[in-house]
Amino acid sequence: MGITSKPVVFAVLAAVVILIGTTVTVFIPLLMPSTQPVSAYIKPYTAVEQEGRDIYMREGCNNCHTQTVRPLRTEVLRYGEYSKPEEFAYDRPFLWGSRRTGPDLNRVGGKYPDSWHYKHLDSPQSMFEKSNMPPYGWLAKNRLDIQYSFKKTSTLGYGYSESDVHKQIDQYRATVTDDNYPSKESRSKVTPRELQKELTEMDALIAYLQKLGRDVKMMEAAK
Ligand code: HEC
Repeated sequence: MGITSKPVVFAVLAAVVILIGTTVTVFIPLLMPSTQPVSAYIKPYTAVEQEGRDIYMREGCNNCHTQTVRPLRTEVLRYGEYSKPEEFAYDRPFLWGSRRTGPDLNRVGGKYPDSWHYKHLDSPQSMFEKSNMPPYGWLAKNRLDIQYSFKKTSTLGYGYSESDVHKQIDQYRATVTDDNYPSKESRSKVTPRELQKELTEMDALIAYLQKLGRDVKMMEAAK
């Protein structure tokens, strides 16, 4: 009599074999340091970039944009260096996505000046006539809600103190409201007068977009 005629024994043995397989292929690698590489170049998001990231998720930008460049020649030529595991260390949750109605954004940081993003978010069709990306001009009409900024960064374990978070927010506000801010003209065009001296949701979203892939570009340049 073979083992196949003993259903209970067979089921138990099958479960044990699957359990061993799962442990070896899932749980052991999960705990190995080599599967979780770290790089000194990869920095956590600042409080403003984190707020921008939350707006990106709230608006569902990830339904049309992926954030992962696959190691394929065509992708590397189009977007740049392919995605590395260490660069997602602070992505909670990750936003790799699976649908590319629009282009991948994992390397968009530094590709355009802020002014480009103000114009593009306000009206994608003004830059690409056939773009089917919806306009997001109203984001510039919303004051950025920073009530939970510290709570968010501390829950995510970025290691900032409350005063660090306030400093980051004040610093970014000072940057975009400065008279010498290079993208001043396009920012003022989309931002209502009463928010000119404040941080808006669009400011934070652009700070986040400019962070995407920035650290990796420095990591590659240093090689
Ligand atoms: C309905 C799908 C759709 C949604 C939703 C969408 N986009 Fe897009 N996006 C596109 C398409 C298509 C393009 C390419 C044409 C263009 O640049 O407008 C694009 C282009 C872009 C680009 C330029 C990329 C490059 O490398 O040139 C950026 C940046 C961008 N989108 C950001 C966003 C952000 C931020 C959001 C959310 C607030 C968003 N998109 C939501 C479809 C979408």
